[in-house]
Amino acid sequence: MERAENLTELLAAQNHVRNQMLNFRKSASLKCAIELGIPEAINQHGKPITLSELVSALPVNPSKASHIYRLMRFLSKAGFFVLQDQGYALTAAGRLLLKDDPFNLRALIFFMSDPVLVKPWNSLTEWFRNDDPAPFDTAHGKNFWAYAAEEPNFANRFNQAMANDSTFIVQVMMTRCKFVFDGLTSLVDVGGGTGAVARAIAQNFPNLECVVCDLPHVIAGQEGTENVDFVAGDMLEKVPTADAILLKGILHDWSDEDCVKILKNCKEAIPGRNKGGRVIIIDMILESQIKDDESVETQVGMDMLMLMCHAAKERTEKEWAKLFRDAGFSDYKILPVFGVRCLIEVKYCYENGEIAFKDGALIAADAILHATGYQPTHDDVMGWLPSAAACLSIKSAWEGLRSSRNATLVKRLLWCNILPLKVSLFTWCALRNLLPLDLTLRKRGISLVSRCDCCLQEEESVSNLLLHGPSATIV
Ligand SMILES: C[S@@+](CC[C@H](N)C(=O)[O-])C[C@H]1O[C@@H](n2cnc3c(N)ncnc32)[C@H](O)[C@@H]1O
Repeated sequence: MERAENLTELLAAQNHVRNQMLNFRKSASLKCAIELGIPEAINQHGKPITLSELVSALPVNPSKASHIYRLMRFLSKAGFFVLQDQGYALTAAGRLLLKDDPFNLRALIFFMSDPVLVKPWNSLTEWFRNDDPAPFDTAHGKNFWAYAAEEPNFANRFNQAMANDSTFIVQVMMTRCKFVFDGLTSLVDVGGGTGAVARAIAQNFPNLECVVCDLPHVIAGQEGTENVDFVAGDMLEKVPTADAILLKGILHDWSDEDCVKILKNCKEAIPGRNKGGRVIIIDMILESQIKDDESVETQVGMDMLMLMCHAAKERTEKEWAKLFRDAGFSDYKILPVFGVRCLIEVKYCYENGEIAFKDGALIAADAILHATGYQPTHDDVMGWLPSAAACLSIKSAWEGLRSSRNATLVKRLLWCNILPLKVSLFTWCALRNLLPLDLTLRKRGISLVSRCDCCLQEEESVSNLLLHGPSATIV
């Protein structure tokens, strides 16, 4: 055999393929165990249950009873059951299969193995070759939301699955970061489904007016409470006004373009700059500090699910930051409180100490080093942090100035990216004072005429500047 010297490696590779190619076994077996009532039978027994006790507690055909052992062996290996004193007990993950466990994930498990959701996985190749928006569309001839609107049974299973997940998340949120809701008088849960999250938040904050905004077929028949209301709406069109907007598991369903649209609508809906308005996002951040194999696999697996359902995606912090910036937000803060997911609080104010777009300052430092040869000091960088969003903008402007001799582009970059932000003006001018930028630009044959210099003091002047814009010309 030619590959004899690699035989050990080859055997391991064979094993890996054989193991991975049947991954769906786990979800199918898990669903079967729940349907047979295995977790309940173990739990009701009150102590580890022997195989024969288990078999006699289950509604299985006697001719199949001997195979229960194999199912238990497989799912024990998968981490749901554990053998103790000759009997099976539930692991922590196994307890999440129990009907009465408040945090059970049964509806989510059933939904994920729903034939409607399994079919698009088999359409993935076809989708890569055709021009359908998402594999779901290839499998079902319409998009996920249209399908849910027309198939009430599917929609119910989906809404239950989402509520299932929310029960747990909201509990963690109230334990670990309840302070996020402090001081709010109103909250809109956009795409809030049947209201599991909003109801729980409302219970914890009786003076907070909560509104769930979702598609008409989702909120139809939902009953509000004293401080929970349901309204039909389309987040791509408009978001109801409130102190804060909650987006749980929403943005990963949409393309970057649609996310920016949704975030802009959220920005319109919350109080203006420095007035405490915020958008609270619960979603994943890829390539974050989470490094263990299982979590990373869960994250990239969710990303594939988003591709399959909506041709959407999970995002890295850099990708999130770009969305926020493109939607006009200046600051964001990540609270890694939900394991593979986290809470991101997004605002548009420029208070000192708000470390926002922290990478922006470093990127700007790098851009300045490249453009001018000046190596910004640690103190410079720290000084820029509060307005690092502006630094990111400056980076874009720098790149435009460096790579382009096109006056219109330069002007557009300066105008669009820097000047609409008051703080950016300060940063820009601070940088201009700090560095011999004019000189550098002149050396490159670009003369920059900016009106920044004369109008930094009053709000009125800033408006004036916004109205007329700066000018940049190439000479
Ligand atoms: C992934 S689910 C998340 C549900 C809920 N936030 C949760 O985490 O339990 C997405 C939600 O967005 C809603 N949705 C989809 N398109 C929408 C639109 N254009 N406007 C408002 N809601 C929409 C869906 O009906 C669904 O309830």
